[in-house]
Amino acid sequence: MDFAELKQECLVCRRCPLCKTRTNVVFGQGAQDAEVLFVGEGPGQSEDEKGQPFVGRSGQLLDKYLFAIDLDRSRNCYIANIVKCRPPQNRDPLPEEREACMPWLREQFRFIRPKIIVCLGRIAAQSMIRPDFAITKEHGQFFEKGGTLFMATFHPAALLRNPAQKPEAFSDFAVLRDKIREVCGHTY
Ligand code: URA
Repeated sequence: MDFAELKQECLVCRRCPLCKTRTNVVFGQGAQDAEVLFVGEGPGQSEDEKGQPFVGRSGQLLDKYLFAIDLDRSRNCYIANIVKCRPPQNRDPLPEEREACMPWLREQFRFIRPKIIVCLGRIAAQSMIRPDFAITKEHGQFFEKGGTLFMATFHPAALLRNPAQKPEAFSDFAVLRDKIREVCGHTY
């Protein structure tokens, strides 16, 4: 199976009840050879409508942070989510929905083979790094797992609600840029 076939399979997924309320599956977007993979929580309304990750207000903010460190989803990074279908009313995805969806992210990881995974927000960090991950304390730090570097930063939607955290988020992206320079071969 190639990456395009994986996507086609995912687009018709019925592994959890979120398939009943979705408009579109949001598989992910970006360069297939990306060395940096960003992982959010799950699609919101705009993403559900368009079938692409982070295209609403929080996506516009994310794109600004990416631009600031020379990343661009059309060129040198990839953006995916823990769950590929929108949870109704934007509630947190349930543990069983995350578990049902995680094999898709694992397969994306197997194809892309990123050097760095950046978790956007608590849900992604707790699913990918550690169940008790504390984003306010541990954001911007790197954790090595199985040869891949993981870090987490604030979810852009949280930054829209709480702009006081923006400088800390900005410094996380600066730390990320330095790490990319150190460990990535073709991102810059
Ligand atoms: N929030 C997320 O976590 N993911 C998206 O794709 C959009 C908003």
